Amino acid sequence: MNVEDAIRSRRAIRSYKDKEISEGKLEEIIDAVRMAPSASNKQDWRFVFVTEGEKKEKLFEKANVQDFVKDAPVIVAGVTTDPEVEMTCGVPAGVVDLSIALDHLTLKAAEEGLGTCWIATFDQEKTKEVLEIPNEYRVIEIMTLGYPAEPLKREDKDRKELEKIMFYNNFSESK
Ligand SMILES: Cc1cc2nc3c(=O)[nH]c(=O)nc-3n(C[C@H](O)[C@H](O)[C@H](O)COP(=O)(O)O)c2cc1C
Repeated sequence: MNVEDAIRSRRAIRSYKDKEISEGKLEEIIDAVRMAPSASNKQDWRFVFVTEGEKKEKLFEKANVQDFVKDAPVIVAGVTTDPEVEMTCGVPAGVVDLSIALDHLTLKAAEEGLGTCWIATFDQEKTKEVLEIPNEYRVIEIMTLGYPAEPLKREDKDRKELEKIMFYNNFSESK
C-alpha cells in the first residue's frame, strides 16, 4: 500500500474484530511511530499499549472512555514527558510531536489492514492514574487499534473543499 492509499483508506474505526494483534505487528507499528520527527529531535514521548482487558475496563469505569474504546484489542496512550516546552512560535511542542507520531501510527496501521480512532474524550488525571503515568507528564491523545469489523477501503471523505482552506500568499477568510 502506498501513502496515498493509506491516507484515503484510513478512517475512524469504532467497531473491531475480536482478534489479537501479534507483538511483531505492534513492534512494526511502533517502529514507524519512532521515525516521526519531533521538535529539536527531542522525542519526549512515550506510548503505552494497553492490551489487558482489566486495564481497558478500568479506563472505561474511571477515565470515562467511550464504550467502543474498551472493546478495541489495543488502546494506545500517547504521552509527552515534557508538557511545559513551548516552541519559539508559542505552540506546545509535545502536542505537535505526539500528533505527528500518532498520525504515523494511523497510517502504518492502515497499511497493515488495521483500524484506529483518535480519542480525546478521556479524563486526563484518571487516565494517568490507571496507566501509572507520572503526574508531571501529559496524555496528549489516546487511540484505539485493531482489525476493523469491516475492511478498510478507499472512500470519499466528508471534507471542506480545497478552495475553502488553501490560499496563495495571503490568508483569506473563506466564504
Ligand atoms: C484530535 C481528535 C480527537 C478525536 N476524538 C474522538 C473521540 O473522543 N471519540 C470519537 O469517537 N472520535 C474521535 N475522533 C474521530 C473524529 O470524529 C474523526 O476522525 C472525524 O470525524 C473524521 O472522520 P475520519 O477519521 O473517519 O476521516 C477524534 C479525532 C481527532 C483528530
